[in-house]
Amino acid sequence: TLPRQAPPHDSATLHVTGRARYLDDQPAPANALHVAVGLSRVAHGRLTRLGLDAARRAPGVVDVITVVDIPGHTDVGPVFPGDPLLADAEVRYAGQPLFAVAATDFTSARRAVALAEIEIDALPARLDPVAAAEAEEWVRPPHVQQRGDWQRALDDAPHRLEAHQFVGGQEHFYLEGQACLALPNEDDGVTVHTSSQHPSEVQKLVAEVLAIPFHAVTVEVRRMGGGFGGKETQAAPWACLAALLARRTGRAVRLRLPRGDDMRATGKRHPFHNRYRLGFDDADVLQGGDITVIGDCGHSPDLSEAIVDRAMFHADNAYSLGQARVTGIPARTHMPSNTAFRGFGGPQGMMIIERAMDDIARHLGEDPLTIRKRNLYRPEHDVTHYGQRVEQIGLLHELVSQLEASSDYWARRSAIRAYNASSPVLKKGLALTPVKFGISFTAKHLNQAGALLHVYTDGSVMINHGGTEMGQGLHTKVGQVVARELGLENAAVRISATRTDKVPNTSPTAASSGADLNGMAARNAAMQIRERLFDFAAEHYRLDREAMCLENGELVAGHGEGERRIAWGDLVQAAYLGRVSLSVTGFYATPLIHYDRASGQGRPFYYYAYGAAVSEVVVDTLSGEHRVSRVDILHDVGDSLNPAIDLGQIEGGFIQGMGWLTSEELKWDETGRLTSDGPATYKIPTIGDTPPDFRVALLEGHPNSQASLYRSKAVGEPPFMLAISVWSALRDALASLADYRLSPALDTPATPERVLFAAQALRQAT
Ligand code: MTE
Ligand code: MOS
Repeated sequence: TLPRQAPPHDSATLHVTGRARYLDDQPAPANALHVAVGLSRVAHGRLTRLGLDAARRAPGVVDVITVVDIPGHTDVGPVFPGDPLLADAEVRYAGQPLFAVAATDFTSARRAVALAEIEIDALPARLDPVAAAEAEEWVRPPHVQQRGDWQRALDDAPHRLEAHQFVGGQEHFYLEGQACLALPNEDDGVTVHTSSQHPSEVQKLVAEVLAIPFHAVTVEVRRMGGGFGGKETQAAPWACLAALLARRTGRAVRLRLPRGDDMRATGKRHPFHNRYRLGFDDADVLQGGDITVIGDCGHSPDLSEAIVDRAMFHADNAYSLGQARVTGIPARTHMPSNTAFRGFGGPQGMMIIERAMDDIARHLGEDPLTIRKRNLYRPEHDVTHYGQRVEQIGLLHELVSQLEASSDYWARRSAIRAYNASSPVLKKGLALTPVKFGISFTAKHLNQAGALLHVYTDGSVMINHGGTEMGQGLHTKVGQVVARELGLENAAVRISATRTDKVPNTSPTAASSGADLNGMAARNAAMQIRERLFDFAAEHYRLDREAMCLENGELVAGHGEGERRIAWGDLVQAAYLGRVSLSVTGFYATPLIHYDRASGQGRPFYYYAYGAAVSEVVVDTLSGEHRVSRVDILHDVGDSLNPAIDLGQIEGGFIQGMGWLTSEELKWDETGRLTSDGPATYKIPTIGDTPPDFRVALLEGHPNSQASLYRSKAVGEPPFMLAISVWSALRDALASLADYRLSPALDTPATPERVLFAAQALRQAT
């Protein structure tokens, strides 16, 4: 098994000293142009006039473009069409790009944008996704997953409950906003530096917009200052605009969205309206029922089909639903096109079943943890509503029991009950919630990766792969894999920027699968080089081919008396002189996975990652404000690739999830304009919101049951959903107001207002 190495992030020192280069730190030629984009202030309407003469004449302006200036494709929809690069006749959301100005400096470009005369005949804007769903306004057709006779199971169940849950969206708030730099090449091509999770898609879309072959476009990503899904598809339009302006002017073009424009123009996490109708028996065990999830997709498909699918795939979270039907509706509204965000719909789906677990517990007067444990997937009840068998069920149960014990759940439960009985205003709450998250892209073809490995004649190694670095430590992990396979120090292996001319046709770095896929491709490349060097050494040094290994910077052959050791550098030199190629490509495709959309059944996930969290909160029931006082997390990453990085991902994911469920509130006015358009009005968690008592541990002794990369598991997204325990703990604190007999409705984000209203409703009901 893997030695428990935990080298720090390869850019850790650069990050904390401010020397890491982000897009805007990238040097550009002195004559580079700067772009400002003109956005619609109307959510829906007909664009009747776009007067740009004054803008064109404004000081410093070099070029102004509208949709008619696009030589190739005008639609940059990533999977399905529907995303105009610049608006044509119809405007479909407030914040939609209408035109772009390139000027000698950014201020001039912005001033010119303000001079545009824009006339839009406003049409009624559809802002409510539930009304949209009812009117059959979808970006894609609804989808159903079904197992067994749900209606009968529901009718026959001794108890039934139903509820509706609104789950709010979330702004990505990556610290580095959308940014790119396009450099025209001498041969009509273009090189684009971008802050994107998906360089190959940027390459494709830039080429299509410019009507040039893909090989004329090179895309490079060194690192992102955070992506979180917001740069999976939505970095591309900006790169297309910059590339088009670069090609028209023959000058370098920089485009960096100001925060407000970024927040208005790009899609967010999908808000969801979920509903359950579930039946359960006298032992509180789910018998079956019906769940519907309606995703607010905004104006276009973007990735919404897969996102609503993933919400459906996670509407069970870690529980056997029994005989169930799950329906997903991707509703179309006049909003920015909502997109990938850590968890990719999974968190929104899970919220409905976690809501149900709490509701059932209150209904029957039991502790929610008892109900949760009883409903976990278990032997005989181990098949999901989409037909995948849940593996490592024993691990799930063990993880929950370990955390139950290590967090001292029951002792704290009694202490909290006693506290609440004597505290009229401040109320404490406690909750344990599990996570089961499916790992793989549900679009099967994306589950592939490539790598390019060079060994130079001094023995140093360069690895490129298709994945991008957004702070999650992917390059560090992939570098570790290559070093391990070649028996080298981590420092002997360097990873440079991700580039489409090094590794082609790559998948986005997303679905938490960056290390799983690219690590495997890199490993495959390293293994090929190793075998090649073994073949060479056997012949050149006349050694036994069978008994060779690479370790501690040496090739070791034979045992005991006959052992020979050859330094890595000498081996590489000799191989070079022996005319052996020291460069190789690697490839990987995930086995076993399949999903049939027509039947809604299959095995979409290679494996599941598990975790659980216990959160304790204290709520001021007169103001609605709360604090999270303690959090205990136990999380499953199989055999960790890098425990230091994994712990960082778990902590960061949890805090980001907590922000989503408690403080981050997207506000729109009645005309569909975003009013929470900056850090003053949109509140992400700060360091002061970190629980003062925060205990995070990795589950030990449970390698992945699938043959994943050294039996590790993906870690990027799953911990995000551990934060559902905070929301459930808030509901627990509120439930104390009604002697734990009523289950408070608590939509998210659970802002002080919402908590206060919930408290008032409970007080009135008792
Ligand atoms: N961690 C940091 N620091 N920054 C990020 O942007 N994105 C998350 C997660 N962790 C993100 C992050 C998301 S949405 C995903 S899908 C994964 O990282 C992607 O990287 P991986 O597949 O290499 O885990
Ligand atoms: Mo992550 S939402 O899959 O980029």
